[in-house]
Amino acid sequence: MSNQMWGGRFASGPDAIMEEINASIDFDRKLALQDISGSKAHVAMLAATGIVSADDARAIEQGLDTIRGEIEAGTFTFSRALEDIHMNIEARLAVLIGPAAGRLHTARSRNDQVALDFRLWVRDTIDALDAQMHDLQQALAEKALAHAGSVMPGFTHLQSAQPVTFGHHLLAYVEMLGRDRSRLHDARARLNECPLGAAALAGTSFPIDRMKTATTLGFDRPTANSLDSVSDRDFVLETLGAASICAMHLSRLAEEIVLWATPQFGFAALSDKFSTGSSIMPQKRNPDAAELVRGKAGRIIGALTALLIVMKGLPLTYSKDMQEDKEGTFDALENLSLCLAAMTGMVRDLNPDLARMRAAAGAGFATATDLADWLVRSLNMPFREAHHVTGRLVAAAAEKAIGLEDLTLAEMQAVEPRITKELFDVLGVDKSVESRTSYGGTAPVNVRAQAAAWLAKLANS
Ligand code: ARG
Repeated sequence: MSNQMWGGRFASGPDAIMEEINASIDFDRKLALQDISGSKAHVAMLAATGIVSADDARAIEQGLDTIRGEIEAGTFTFSRALEDIHMNIEARLAVLIGPAAGRLHTARSRNDQVALDFRLWVRDTIDALDAQMHDLQQALAEKALAHAGSVMPGFTHLQSAQPVTFGHHLLAYVEMLGRDRSRLHDARARLNECPLGAAALAGTSFPIDRMKTATTLGFDRPTANSLDSVSDRDFVLETLGAASICAMHLSRLAEEIVLWATPQFGFAALSDKFSTGSSIMPQKRNPDAAELVRGKAGRIIGALTALLIVMKGLPLTYSKDMQEDKEGTFDALENLSLCLAAMTGMVRDLNPDLARMRAAAGAGFATATDLADWLVRSLNMPFREAHHVTGRLVAAAAEKAIGLEDLTLAEMQAVEPRITKELFDVLGVDKSVESRTSYGGTAPVNVRAQAAAWLAKLANS
């Protein structure tokens, strides 16, 4: 059977393999509700401008409402022979209301239609992801406030560097998510132009009102260039870019949870709710959800790369290659949503072992920098010299296999005679973090204030 949309030019139907490669209905059915919203805005504009009669417009709108009901109820029959969501809905409309259905596609093409539908879907998804990122920030900031004074080792090169607080560490991720959300907001602002009315590529000779459809659909304005309108997928790429960076952040936190949950670190444990066992090793508790968040970052970043490669060779304007924009995007953004939900659950579930964190924070001469700073402050020693003196004190302690704070005053004075007993005031891990009051530093007083400031901010946005 030849196609009911372009059957005029075609004598026969497609080869089976043509239908197999061409049909997108198996995945673009996800755009059904956006397609109906777009069509309703379009037909309302066609009626307002006198391009279709009020009676036909009413019949079309009622038919579209019926179809929406069928889709929501799960009774709509999607057909691969009808290729994509646009033609599936239009064909059903023709069955429901007869020839008037054929007027809906006036001054429109599937090229501007799919550009519109996908924009609407991405916009809805951005809003949902933003809300999830907010929830994760909330969980992190609440835990940060509770642990503003809990000492843990801070790392560089994954070697213990200086003591920090667990709250400070968690707030680092709140900052990252703040930038992730800001990137999504930026993407949304640039996305929010309506491509409907660009038609196939060149615009239309019908007296359409693009401002009206744009406003009806919640866009700031219509897109300015019809060629760009049907060939642009920047809004997807920007969203996938923001999603990839966020996924990378979640993956880094997931990696830390994996490390913390090992018996070797023992910094924090996940409860049974977020752990799995081994079918052979009874002692095992595996942080599978964290590992999956780390793993899924790969496929999310992959979707960005895939679409960049699809787009890079395309001449203006629409080419069917662009149908490949959807599956990876759906998959990536749905998986990011899953990762955000899982990470929020894990953060709330995470139970830190404060004693182990504290012990590890003090190990490895972690307060050596504090000692050097004391020499600079109290003895007016140049920092380079203080670094050298401290190095000798570390060597002395290491030789005896004791901590810096366990050296006697006499032993210290053997290295630097001007050292006084006041030096011992800066050597414990608590003293160390309490002293780091510089803006953005790890002092509990700072962390408490920053966590509270974030929580206040998150209460409004
Ligand atoms: N299913 C198509 C897509 O997703 C819709 C646009 C088709 N346009 C065309 N000229 N064949 O890209």
